[in-house]
Amino acid sequence: MARLDPHSYADLSQGITGAISLKLNVDFDAKKLSGTVRLHLRKPASGILDLDTRALEITGCRTGEGNEIPFELGEPDAILGARLRLQLPAPAQDIEIDCAASDGSTALDWLAPGQTAGGVLPYLYSQCQPHHARSIFPCQDTPRVRFTYSAEVTVPDGFTVVMAAAPGGVAPGTRPGTRTFTFTMPQPIPSYLTALAVGSIASKDISDRVRIYAEPEVLDRAAWEFAGVGDMVGVAEGIFGPYEWERYDMLVMPFSFPYGGMENPRLTFLTPTLLAGDRSLVNVVAHELAHSWTGNLVTNATMEDFWINEGFTVWAERRILEALEGPDYAALHAAIGRISLDEAFERFGADSPYTQLKTPLAGVDPDEVYSEVPYEKGFLFVTLLERTVGREQWDAVIRRYIERFRFTSITTEELLEFLDHELPGVLDTIQARRWVYKPGLPENAPVFVSERLENVRALADAWTRGKRPGAGDVAGWKAEEWQLYLKWLPRDVSLKDCEDLDGRFGLTSSGNYEILVNWLVLAIRSGYAPVLERTRGVLTNVGRMKYLRPLYQALLGRPEFQGFARDVFDEMRDRYHTLSRVAIEGIFSKAGV
Ligand code: BES
Ligand code: ZN
Repeated sequence: MARLDPHSYADLSQGITGAISLKLNVDFDAKKLSGTVRLHLRKPASGILDLDTRALEITGCRTGEGNEIPFELGEPDAILGARLRLQLPAPAQDIEIDCAASDGSTALDWLAPGQTAGGVLPYLYSQCQPHHARSIFPCQDTPRVRFTYSAEVTVPDGFTVVMAAAPGGVAPGTRPGTRTFTFTMPQPIPSYLTALAVGSIASKDISDRVRIYAEPEVLDRAAWEFAGVGDMVGVAEGIFGPYEWERYDMLVMPFSFPYGGMENPRLTFLTPTLLAGDRSLVNVVAHELAHSWTGNLVTNATMEDFWINEGFTVWAERRILEALEGPDYAALHAAIGRISLDEAFERFGADSPYTQLKTPLAGVDPDEVYSEVPYEKGFLFVTLLERTVGREQWDAVIRRYIERFRFTSITTEELLEFLDHELPGVLDTIQARRWVYKPGLPENAPVFVSERLENVRALADAWTRGKRPGAGDVAGWKAEEWQLYLKWLPRDVSLKDCEDLDGRFGLTSSGNYEILVNWLVLAIRSGYAPVLERTRGVLTNVGRMKYLRPLYQALLGRPEFQGFARDVFDEMRDRYHTLSRVAIEGIFSKAGV
């Protein structure tokens, strides 16, 4: 059999991992995560077994019985990493590999104390999606393979380890001055959902199955911000069916975390930029929670099918928001999503294959083409299905979909086949294949009508006719209305208008990063220098790519701010997450700066 995932060397005809056990040691001085991984195959295999690795040192390999296994580490490929080829001498079911990930691991971010809230201890965290798990331990790093796992992680005294798994306890390590934390993951997961974090971490319960983990310095704020998540889990269960992961805990990350959230099962990772102080950004939690069904139970087979994860999850996220806050509120999010989708289409160009739902990614690094398309075009496609067959029928289909495919990974084609069977004729009616296999947005894309949306739109449209907003116009606005308003204003406005807007509404001191960054981008594009100090504050504190990208982009678009952007980036480059650093370097080189 051939390889089935363009981003993995795994060949499932050679053998399939069913369970993993990890023994890892964290060395903060050497920035080294090393130990042993034991792969338990579903059935004994012999001959060649190919595994994925990236920037890993491999020092030994043997069978469960202790017999040497010859291995060969291939030349590293820029996207796939290096193939680890084992030659199993005789049928083997258990394989033990000694490995070490150092500073070059793309999955790991090693933070100096100064990059944490506490400022005393260093911190380590992982981000494995899409293809970085191989940069922690050798594995069949494709979502087609699912495994349960157990882990023992040894750290110096004073550190706490958390994993996206069930904690088993902590005991003194075999070496003095260390402790070993144990975990088990009883539900089978794809490799990209393994996750760990090590640092000064405390916790607080929100409900009987929801707990917040964070550095002690931010724990109370986090517990307040996410106090409603216990109820949110219940609401989601009401729509999508039983929650299958027992607990829904959250870890508030240090600032360098490059995403808004990551749906690591049992332990969602969240950017601290969500701590707005007014619970205005919990949609990100709704999104990661929704992945507990769409993504973590039913998983994309490869990154070419990534829209199955994200499109269904954005739809599910907005269903949760609608249930909690009403349809008008969900419509605001749909409108924000639509703007970002149009921006992505503009960036890629109308004919780009990256504007298809199913994206051909052989030879393409999925991190490089990450965009809103699978999210927002996917959302519109699922919404179109929902509107075409009616909510009642659609909700029943979704439940059967989850029931049918739970704990498996599916391709776009398997999904379409399922839908065709459930809803005969509907795929043709809505021209599903055009949505999935052709670029751009079909004309039958759903539109959203809501009074709140129309009000913001009217106010923004009136700008060019000289209308400036007063307190009365924005009374009762939520953060989403501000975001839309700022997005819908002309691309640059006069310096006087910048000053007035900021003077009246205090945008530069907004605690909501969505408002703040949209405002800063508008002001920077307009050449309004008084926001530079605040911009520096964001760029030197926040690692979330969603904010770094547009800010650097806007700065580089103004010749007078290019030097400022260069200075800040030079100061920060080693402190950003590798992904963020690479993304920003791309923006600089594209801008020719
Ligand atoms: N799974 C993604 C994050 C991700 C995607 C990491 C691909 C690496 C590769 C997560 O669920 C996500 O979509 N996060 C969004 C949240 C938003 C859509 C509410 C983010 O980080 O902005
Ligand atoms: Zn997501």
